Amino acid sequence: MQDKINQIQQTAEHAVDACTALEEIEQQRVRFLGKKGEVTLLFQHLKNVPVEEKPQAGVLINTLKDHIHNILQLKKERLETAQLEKQLLSESIDVTLPGQNSGFGKIHPLNRTLHELVDIFHSLGFSIAHGPEIETEYYNFDALNIPSYHPARDMQDTFFLENGMVLRTHTSPVQIRVMENKKPPVRIIAPGRVYRNEAINYKSYCLFHQIEGFYVDSAVSFAELKGVLAFVIREFFGKETQFRIRPSYFPFTEPSLECDIMVKGKSGWMEILGAGMIHPQVLKSVGYDPQQVQGYAFGMGIERITMLRYGIDDIRLLYDNDLRFLAQF
Ligand code: DAH
Repeated sequence: MQDKINQIQQTAEHAVDACTALEEIEQQRVRFLGKKGEVTLLFQHLKNVPVEEKPQAGVLINTLKDHIHNILQLKKERLETAQLEKQLLSESIDVTLPGQNSGFGKIHPLNRTLHELVDIFHSLGFSIAHGPEIETEYYNFDALNIPSYHPARDMQDTFFLENGMVLRTHTSPVQIRVMENKKPPVRIIAPGRVYRNEAINYKSYCLFHQIEGFYVDSAVSFAELKGVLAFVIREFFGKETQFRIRPSYFPFTEPSLECDIMVKGKSGWMEILGAGMIHPQVLKSVGYDPQQVQGYAFGMGIERITMLRYGIDDIRLLYDNDLRFLAQF
């Protein structure tokens, strides 16, 4: 019996030691301690053992049973720990890895220009107003002193809609809408989209943005207009920027002017805005008395200013939504 016990113990120790997976441990448990296991069979053999040896043999078999149970348990725990370690290693986080780029958005160059200009005008006391992009012919033309027979009606290629509506060709109609609803003094800028039915090429697009501005009060002078334009140009393009003002024509201003700046890297003057003293006819059309109040107005194209500032040579780039282009700003 003793030999048999020793032999089983040795076999069990080797077998358990050789286990590399939890299922193998279970197989060994069944092999030695299961219902028909080798140790269980030993207990059945006990009945053949002489009576006087039975107690001692019983103790030995029980000790063997406990021993095998213990080594199985120990091995099981080791395998479980190893498995956990392996899993943890495979799941571990390397805190030294560089972070994932979350792809921050950028502000579109047009909005950049728009925001900066709006800030500059804010600092001068201008408030913001908005008007509809689908406009009546009255606000877009007539109230701005552009009657239907007027040749200036052809200056802007208009998208005509049904019921006499148009896509506004400029932001100037916002002047009328604001003045109709507010008594002087009014000091307003009106940024927004405008539309023109033009052939699309590197310098013109069917839609673009303008900032309209105007100031009406009891003593508004041409000199003040010039001062405001000079301030805005220097704030936006830089202190050293040269600019010039030359006479021009717009039906809604008298006198009218256009303003050019000298841009580094470009040869010659580049036009950036139109302006003038608001025409008495326009003041009349909103119920103001031109004897009592005067005003100046100006309008500038955001695309043009953005292109001059960043050296962009094709307006269509601003509308392509190509990230390779937009990421540069
Ligand atoms: N509305 C004009 C345009 O789109 C720009 C303009 C010129 C606006 C002179 C003005 C102005 O307010 O006084 O071409």
